[in-house]
Amino acid sequence: MKILFASQNQHKLEEVSKILPSTMELIGLNDLDFREDIPETEDTIEGNALLKARVIYKKFGIPCFADDTGLFIEALNGEPGVYSARWHEKDDRFETNIEKALFKLKDKGNRSAYFKTVVAYIDNKGEILFEGRVDGKIISSLRGDSGFGYDPIFIPDGYDQTFAEMPSELKNKISHRGRAMKKFIAYLA
Ligand code: IMP
Repeated sequence: MKILFASQNQHKLEEVSKILPSTMELIGLNDLDFREDIPETEDTIEGNALLKARVIYKKFGIPCFADDTGLFIEALNGEPGVYSARWHEKDDRFETNIEKALFKLKDKGNRSAYFKTVVAYIDNKGEILFEGRVDGKIISSLRGDSGFGYDPIFIPDGYDQTFAEMPSELKNKISHRGRAMKKFIAYLA
């Protein structure tokens, strides 16, 4: 079965291709030469995942899924949440999202946070959402070179390594995206 992941993010495509069963052929937007930016204008993770999946399903008409992820930091009242991708752009004192998180948490004792991913899938039967969440904490400096995004500052509960220090197989097994994908794959099966 051919399935289209409505993403141009190569890191995500690699992660997801390792999670999907080998009977499924994963294609990404770059494979279809689709390079337009789809503005994430909704104010929820669910809304943005659906929005991306709808745009791509309408354009290509093949079974397609999109994901949206947010990092929710407890001491910052859930920030950056749905704005995780472009958080630092709201405040140009910060070079990167990670710098901003570390700065804002500098004097905070509560470092709890969670990642949430929503996968939105559309085919000719309709639309369906799958959610995955992983709880953990934000550390005070970066550790590890693998993964992407906020991985170097996030340690999932029950582990000592950041997502960026873990082998990708372990991250995929316990991560927000891995968990949402597992539910999605069970549905497809
Ligand atoms: P989006 O799902 O691509 O919109 O991701 C929103 C933001 O969360 C981006 O800044 C990503 O880098 C970050 N992000 C998404 N997935 C992960 C992950 O698995 N680890 C760390 N950061 C992530």
